[in-house]
Amino acid sequence: MAASFISSILMSLFLSHLFLVPPAATATTTGPSRSGGQLLKIACTIDGIADPKTWDYNLCIKVLKSNPKVASSPNLPTLAINIIKFGISNITNTHTHIKNSQERKNVGSAHRPALKASLKACDESYELILISFQSALGEVKDDKEYETATYDLLLARTDDLDGCKKALASKKVEDSSISSGNKFVNLFSTAADAVCTRL
Ligand SMILES: *[C@@H]1O[C@H](CO)[C@@H](O)[C@H](O)[C@H]1NC(C)=O
Repeated sequence: MAASFISSILMSLFLSHLFLVPPAATATTTGPSRSGGQLLKIACTIDGIADPKTWDYNLCIKVLKSNPKVASSPNLPTLAINIIKFGISNITNTHTHIKNSQERKNVGSAHRPALKASLKACDESYELILISFQSALGEVKDDKEYETATYDLLLARTDDLDGCKKALASKKVEDSSISSGNKFVNLFSTAADAVCTRL
């Protein structure tokens, strides 16, 4: 009798441990106790990742909130994946704009060598940026290689983007869609980076 009483206590201790420990442990990083808004704060808080002088926290929150999938991400890994996907779609749109401009401007391109050279540089930059984002997506989603993902995301907004930025500056070409696109490459890669850094 006593033995079975003790064993039932041990059993219930064991069971309560089984059921209580996992949620308590996950709550510290990815659990349901953390609201979507708090996760977005993590994505837009860029300590040590970007220059706080040029980082627009409020814009970051606003952009991430505008995407329902991103805004309702239940945990950090999913948030990273959704930001990267949102970024890929945005960056693809800018890339399409660049490609369309190249085709449109080809006719009179003899008169606009500066524009032509800039569009070519930006086309190449955006191709590289998309490759880096796709790599980061696979690293987070399939391999859980978060550190490698942060490296690819950094590459996207530095080396990959530089060719386009430098061409626009040196050729004195102004294209508000590309300039705005470049800003969002920076926003998406930095925000995804901020999340991956916490994983
Ligand atoms: C990229 O995302 C931003 C923020 O949501 C938006 O303002 C912009 O129009 C998007 N660009 C493209 C080309 O989709």
